[in-house]
Amino acid sequence: MTTPIQTSTGAAHTRILGIGGYRPSRVVSNAEICEQIDSSDEWIRTRSGIVERRWAEDHETVQAMSVGAARDALKHAGVAPEQIGCVIVATVSHLLQTPAVAPLIATELGTTKAAAFDISAACAGFCHGVALGSDLIRAGSAKYVLAIGVERLSDITDRTDRGTAFIFADGAGAAVIGPSDEPGIGPVVWGSEGEQFDLIRQNEKWPQAIDAGDKVMPTLRMDGNPVFRWASFEMAKIAREALDLAGVALEDLDAFVPHQANMRITDAMARALRLPDNVKIARDIATQGNTSAASVPLAMLRMYDEGTLKSGDTALMIAFGAGLVYAAQVVTVP
Ligand code: COA
Repeated sequence: MTTPIQTSTGAAHTRILGIGGYRPSRVVSNAEICEQIDSSDEWIRTRSGIVERRWAEDHETVQAMSVGAARDALKHAGVAPEQIGCVIVATVSHLLQTPAVAPLIATELGTTKAAAFDISAACAGFCHGVALGSDLIRAGSAKYVLAIGVERLSDITDRTDRGTAFIFADGAGAAVIGPSDEPGIGPVVWGSEGEQFDLIRQNEKWPQAIDAGDKVMPTLRMDGNPVFRWASFEMAKIAREALDLAGVALEDLDAFVPHQANMRITDAMARALRLPDNVKIARDIATQGNTSAASVPLAMLRMYDEGTLKSGDTALMIAFGAGLVYAAQVVTVP
């Protein structure tokens, strides 16, 4: 006879209890970018909406930026590090194949041996982390989860590549997720389209780079135009699905917080969604650049800090990127 195994159940509902961020100190202007590519400030502003971006200095490591963002989020949530049961770090720029960076972050924060692991879901990593965290809490695997999105994309950006040099940037964002009396995180709509694997990717595998013998790190490459079209139109459908699953009408939405890929993609999605005028739209990319996994929490944080968002508001988050992968959910603002 099979021995019965007990299972766990957790909270009926979850919500984001606090958010935090870390913006690197170095501001990089379009003029500086144009020292290495044939472009102009005007072209970059018009095509991407980026006026300037943040790049990390040496001491602003993936670990250091994550810890900064996480401490901010824990403080906002009023949750102590010892209460965190799981740390999920979404990143593609922790440049050590193994171990993951999450255990280092969990230890530096002072968690009590929290489960800690990295996930690789590119620019959609933070929204994947929120979905996983929420489900872990509802399943009883952890009471409080820290979801972090962090990147140092400047390390893996070819500064002479016209297609990517002006887009990518560095930073970290974090959210503390915990139990709630009311639903505060809607069902995730997520997925992947592996047939589009090559549209955004590391240009070569590590062994190829080593064989080439030129001591140049692999860098990111992007086929910008198809990514632009896919994100602008397909992602609006995913966003609408997330609203429907959460039972939230467009009129009841306070804010739209999409991945900060490109200002024109944000505008195209807002048009395709027919967002009412009163819905505030995150536009952090203008002065931060595209920070991949960190972009959604940093964008939400800016709205929060500027008073455009307030606690209890309803926000639609959506993120998409290399894979291609995507994830969207409706959340209550902490
Ligand atoms: N500066 C100046 N001109 C540039 C340029 C640059 N950095 N890059 C390309 N161009 C030129 C091209 O040479 C081309 O010139 P031509 O018309 O004389 O041939 C023209 O601009 C259009 O090139 P194209 O590659 O079609 O540009 P685009 O309009 O698609 O814009 C991106 C390029 C990268 C801004 C755009 O494709 C994009 O934003 N894609 C999505 C990027 C993104 O969000 N990625 C993150 C997803 S997570």
